[in-house]
Amino acid sequence: MGTAIAEGLLKSKFCKAADIVVTKRNTTTLQALSQRGVKTTSDNSEAVSKSEIIILAVKPYQVSEVLNSFKPVIHSKHVLVSVVTGVLIKDIQDSIGKKIPVFRAMPNTAIAIQQSMTCLSVTDAASAQIAFVNKLFSTLGKVAVIDEKLMDAATVLGACGTAYAMRYIRANIQGGIEIGFDAATASLIAAQTVKGAAELLLEKGSHPEQEIDKVTTPKGCTIAGLNEMEHQGFSSSLIKGIATSYNKIVKG
Ligand SMILES: NC(=O)c1ccc[n+]([C@@H]2O[C@H](COP(=O)([O-])OP(=O)(O)OC[C@H]3O[C@@H](n4cnc5c(N)ncnc54)[C@H](OP(=O)(O)O)[C@@H]3O)[C@@H](O)[C@H]2O)c1
Repeated sequence: MGTAIAEGLLKSKFCKAADIVVTKRNTTTLQALSQRGVKTTSDNSEAVSKSEIIILAVKPYQVSEVLNSFKPVIHSKHVLVSVVTGVLIKDIQDSIGKKIPVFRAMPNTAIAIQQSMTCLSVTDAASAQIAFVNKLFSTLGKVAVIDEKLMDAATVLGACGTAYAMRYIRANIQGGIEIGFDAATASLIAAQTVKGAAELLLEKGSHPEQEIDKVTTPKGCTIAGLNEMEHQGFSSSLIKGIATSYNKIVKG
């Protein structure tokens, strides 16, 4: 996720490569970024002391170790953005022991191509800082500012949602091959059709059922297929899957 954000920032030209520092313990895997001019280091403390915005993109169990590694150098003018799943803003502030602006961001992997859906929540930030972080993620896709209590729901719908969509597209490819296409053509048709359907909703602000009405001729093939999918539990299985993912986060 950290490298995907760096790639997105480079592609969008939001900032210069030389203004980005990416840290990880094993920096050998960051060669592609360093060749493009991004600074790479395993020294978190040095990276934080030379930066203004810190994006924390580690696994939840690594948070406390990483926060400790730069705790002595972080100060109230820093802005910390955590993309870590399930770690509360309050826990980060308590761990640091200083009152600094902390954002939680829940992007998805499409951030690498500037097509993320990112949900943001914030505590103790000035309006200019909120505007800046909003702008940063807006260059990497779309942004919704949400209450922190909705972050688990945002994780499911926005981040796990990429996997659900992929499985939907994969099923279309499988079906497409069964009805005559080779895999490459079926993949292109399935992915572009889903992209176009999503763009219709985003650009026109219409409801999915309005768009479905335009495609379903009475007694036609679309409604016959759709109704069969519903008889087989299509919408219900998706809703149950979303609720199961959510319960897994909330109840463990
Ligand atoms: N994948 C998604 O779709 C998605 C979406 C939204 C949010 N998230 C959240 O984003 C976070 C990162 O996810 P991910 O999939 O990118 O995990 P990941 O691939 O394991 O990346 C974590 C990175 O942290 C580095 N790291 C670990 N300890 C470090 C330390 N002490 N100092 C510096 N770097 C350190 C690791 O590199 P080294 O081992 O080399 O140090 C690794 O590159 C998670 O909390 C996840 O829940 C993920």
